[in-house]
Order: sequence, then structure tokens, then C-alpha cells
Amino acid sequence: MTPVSFPPAFLWGAATSAYQIEGAVREDGRTPSIWDTFSHTPGKTAGGEHGDIAVDHYHRYRDDVALMADLGLGAYRFSISWSRVQPTGRGPAVQRGLDFYRRLVDELLAKGIKPAVTLYHWDLPQELEDAGGWPERDTAYRFAEYAQIVGEALGDRVEQWITLNEPWCSAFLGYGSGVHAPGRTEPVATLRASHHLNLAHGLGATALRSVMPARNTVALSLNSSTVRPVSQDPADLAAARKIDDLANGIYHGPILHGAYPASLFTATEQLTDWSYVLDGDLAAINQPLDALGLNYYTPALVSASDAEQAGPRADGHGASEHSPWPGADDVLFHQTPGDRTAMGWSIDPTGLHELIMRYTREAPGLPLYITENGAAYDDKPDSEGRVHDPERIAYLHGHLAAVRRAITDGADVRGYYLWSLLDNFEWAYGYEKRFGAVYVDYATLTRTPKSSAHWYAKAARTGTLPE
Ligand code: NOJ
Repeated sequence: MTPVSFPPAFLWGAATSAYQIEGAVREDGRTPSIWDTFSHTPGKTAGGEHGDIAVDHYHRYRDDVALMADLGLGAYRFSISWSRVQPTGRGPAVQRGLDFYRRLVDELLAKGIKPAVTLYHWDLPQELEDAGGWPERDTAYRFAEYAQIVGEALGDRVEQWITLNEPWCSAFLGYGSGVHAPGRTEPVATLRASHHLNLAHGLGATALRSVMPARNTVALSLNSSTVRPVSQDPADLAAARKIDDLANGIYHGPILHGAYPASLFTATEQLTDWSYVLDGDLAAINQPLDALGLNYYTPALVSASDAEQAGPRADGHGASEHSPWPGADDVLFHQTPGDRTAMGWSIDPTGLHELIMRYTREAPGLPLYITENGAAYDDKPDSEGRVHDPERIAYLHGHLAAVRRAITDGADVRGYYLWSLLDNFEWAYGYEKRFGAVYVDYATLTRTPKSSAHWYAKAARTGTLPE
């Protein structure tokens, strides 16, 4: 077999997010975010699990960075906990909160690892949700203020910036199906939240650029779905189009092209007149990007349905009697074929290739990063304490090879961040779903690199996928 090799400058990274790993939720002035509140609400997460301790990264960051260095990672993507920096979501920053990130960044730089900062990975300060949350316009202004504070504090040493992580999940799972914090189930609020997240991205990007050196790059990470129709029947094609608008066009439309898709307005006209899109918003959102981050796990397969057919949804986003998809009650989600990970998500690297090629066409000339890709499996240590995870190696191999094919086909993919560095708090699923390349024993918090971590380290070191 021909070895799969990457360009020398390709960035080999790993990703995490604040609430999923930090713990220390009441230290150094941090106040609750919507995920603290939600995870402590009975019935919202598996086993009532929460991020109070998580993997205690707040206290163990030095060891974690040393581990990254041992694995030869070139880059590390992490997120900032907004309520550590601005406990009420507004006003002056708490320096102790920022200091943690200064120390983390310095530690990374000392080991030659490029930091990539995500400003918002789903943990809105609870005070801002109490004031209405993302469905309210003011939250976008608050985000811009927060972006400026963090940009001022870290802009001299962090070059790669990501405004938002997966705004679809914040809006559609947080305000639509309610399987994520804040757990609201309001279709119109879902669409309002989407618009204000877009606005937050645009205003946040502008605020960052106003305080940072020009060499720094500003991007965002979308969980754009590869949406496939079950057939070429016009009704199924229309169903796929509708989900594509709600999953993808609702974000990349205004962000990349300065307009929402007209078909999105038609699909949602029974629900909303979109009057919260004010004059000037689209221009504010449509800021030039330096790169686009794509998070990919599995494709979606949809068809048209009539009401009787519409059984339990199989869109892979958790169980709720409320659909996350406003205006799409006539769409049916199908189990996609193929082997599955422990999340029940089918394994299909062709979906990643398709996604990369789509954005290569959609945004010609824009550098792309895979800001998340990975898999959960039921990993367990063997009698000698080693963790063998051949399925994860196969998953990573397949998806990295798909990235390489896309590069050969003309895509400008500059790097890949494995999700995730460590096993961690997988939101509503709690700690049972292990995405880490490094195993965490939750009783002792000991870290043990799995065989996939060694495999990935070799790929990073040689620029070639080990067979
Ligand atoms: C996307 C999210 O950004 C991340 O927080 C999550 O853990 C992974 N997907 C896996 O579900």
C-alpha cells in the first residue's frame, strides 16, 4: 500500500474544551455557566454527572502539556471558560481567571506547541442566560466585549483564534431539543439564538482584530453536516435541502456570503418572520475569515416523511421528545449504514472528504482546518494497565486518509485536531463515552496514553500514517 503522507507544514493537534476538562468550577472567582446549572439539574445528564472536577485539568495542566509534548503534538486547541474571565458575563475581567490561561499558553509555547484558543465552547455565564441567553441580542454584544478582553490578554502570544465552537449545537440542542444547556425547547428561540450567535461571531471577530497583532488568525468551528438524501426523489432531495439549510446554510450563509439562504426563510415562515435580523447585521456577520474550522464525526441521511412515518429521530443528537429542527417535522432521519462508534454514529470517512470539498468550493482560497474529529469507544485497561484501542486507530486512519485525499483533490487543509486529547465529560452522556487518545481513570485521574495516542504521535512525528 502507498504510504499516506502529509505536507511538511501540516499541523498535528488535539482539542479539548474548558467545561469538559477543567473542573475547579468554584475557584479563582469563576461563577456557574449554563452547563453547571444544567448538569446539576436532575435528569439532564447520564447519572447526574457534571464537570465539577472533570479531569482536573485546571490543576494538572502542566502535566497535560508535558503529555502533549511527549506525544509530539504541534498544536493544542482549548477553550476559555467565559465565567472564569467575566463572572457575570459583563464588565471588567477577573485577572486570576485570565492568569490560568496565561500560564497554560506559556507552558505550551515553552514546549513548542501552538495554542489555538476557542472563545466559546457552550458554557455561557448563567447570568447571561438569566437575562435571556442567546435568543437575546444583548448576548452577542456581551460576547464581543469578552472577546476583546481575552484578545487583549492573550493576543500577544496566541496566533490562532476561534470565535465559536459549533454554534448549531448551542442553538439547536440548547434551545430546540433541550438535550444541552440551557435545556430550553423553543423553536423560535432556536432561530433567534442562531442569528445572535452569528452576530456574536462577527462582532467578536471585529473586536479581536481591533486589539490583536495583524498576524493572528480568526476562524470559527462549524459542525457542518454532510447531509445525504436516501434517494434522488424530489421530495427526498427537498428534505435534504431543508436540513442542509438548518444545519449548514444558517451559519455559513451569513458568515461566508453575507446572506441567509432564501429557502431557509421559506422553510421557517410559519414560525418566524426573522425580524430580529436588523439592518447592518449581515455586514457585521460577514467578516473576512483567515481560516475555517470543520468538526466532523458522521454524515446524516434523510428523507421526506409523512407524519405517521416520523418515528423516533435518528439524527444522533440524543433523546428528546422535542425535535431540534424547527420547521422540519416533515423530514425523517435514518440510521446511516456502516460500523458504529460507541456514540452509535456510523463511521464514514467519505463524508469528511465530501465536506472538505464542499467548503473548498463554497469558500475558495480559505484555508481549512479539521478542528475536531475522533471517536468514542468502550476503552478499558488490560491486566497490565495498557489501553488498546485498535478501532480508534482505524477511525483516525480512515479519516486522516480522507483529509489527505481532499488535499490531493485541491483542498487547502492546513491541520487536524484530534478530538480529544483526554477522555472527558461528554456533555449529556457524562463520562461513559470516552473520546480521548489518553485514557483517564476517573477514580485516580491518572492519565494513560492509549495505543491510538502512540499511533498518532508517530503520524505527527513522521508526517505519514503508520500502517
Ligand atoms: C463536538 C463538540 O465540540 C465536543 O465538545 C464534543 O465532545 C464532541 N463533538 C463529541 O461529541
